Amino acid sequence: MAALRVLVAGGGVIGCSIAYHLQKAGASVVLLERAEIGGESSGAAAGMLIAPFEDAASRPFQALQNASLAMYLPLIKELRSHSGIDIEYKTCGILRTARTVEHAKALQALVKRRAVAISGLEWVEGETLRGLEPGISPAVLGAAYSPDDANVNSGLLTQAFAVSAERLGAEVHRGVALTGFLGRGQHLRGAGTSAGDFRVDAVVLAAGPWTESLLRRVSARVPTPPMRGQMLAYRSSTVHHAIWGEDGYLVPKPRGFLFAGATVEDAGFRKRTTASGLASLQRAAAGMIPALRHADVVSSWAGLRPGSPDGLPILGRVPGRENVFVAGGHFRNGILLAPVTGRLMTQLICEGRPEIDLRPFRPERFG
Ligand code: GLY
Repeated sequence: MAALRVLVAGGGVIGCSIAYHLQKAGASVVLLERAEIGGESSGAAAGMLIAPFEDAASRPFQALQNASLAMYLPLIKELRSHSGIDIEYKTCGILRTARTVEHAKALQALVKRRAVAISGLEWVEGETLRGLEPGISPAVLGAAYSPDDANVNSGLLTQAFAVSAERLGAEVHRGVALTGFLGRGQHLRGAGTSAGDFRVDAVVLAAGPWTESLLRRVSARVPTPPMRGQMLAYRSSTVHHAIWGEDGYLVPKPRGFLFAGATVEDAGFRKRTTASGLASLQRAAAGMIPALRHADVVSSWAGLRPGSPDGLPILGRVPGRENVFVAGGHFRNGILLAPVTGRLMTQLICEGRPEIDLRPFRPERFG
């Protein structure tokens, strides 16, 4: 039987993971990226891989997060063996800090509730906290410490998925945009692109915040609003753990860099940094680690996260279309959820039945 031919539109981490998983499962993939692989928010992300902690996240969402985290360790080796790319997975642990007694109490209660689910999770304060992170502000009363949380180089992860898919036989078209669809009715015959028409058995739309406008062309209304995140990098080796504060976070990176993030802004498609945004990041960073007041900022950038109205990803078949699928709306969890999204979308497209129920994430929930 001929392999299922699937076109994936979007060369961010989600599209590239789907392309990789589909190709690995025996499909014949065409991956389109209108500019550069990982050139948008996937390349801008800090790459934190953090076990779900807050009670607020729904159970299906937590299940998705945990399933994806569990895929990471084997994936590092797998992607390296196919692509030669090291995704710079680094276990740095995370300190969720509290500066008020109320917040400290709330975090301590969460530590108790989550201790069974998150290995090594504990409340730290005083000398223990300062032994872990000597530069932390005296205003920090304590922190929920989760030692196993990690981060990756999100740009390299995206490249590793794309190159691995390519090495397994996928066609990867860089600088090629989707311009329309072939055919009408429930079953489309393929897609038109800036490099000509592609006849395929299925199409997956995974174009971050641009997914909404692609979906409109197949008469589907699924909001994926851009949510800008500004980031900056210090040249500093003074921070050893990821630190999550009330107004921002810090993530230590290889080669003496420290990322500080991130704003969450509804600024449309204006992907640029602003003086006030960067100043707010520097204030938040110095509030966590006062010595950063004197550290050099070596770079700053912005990305457009793919939002969704309820903050949950949008995964499934497009309403009214048999062979068009969407994977979007990952908002602040794209890097974390990329592996499981690739696997589940592959199962949905190739077998019709993903191993995790995707109904809580179905595109038609927005009416
Ligand atoms: N995932 C981190 C952020 O959205 O800023």
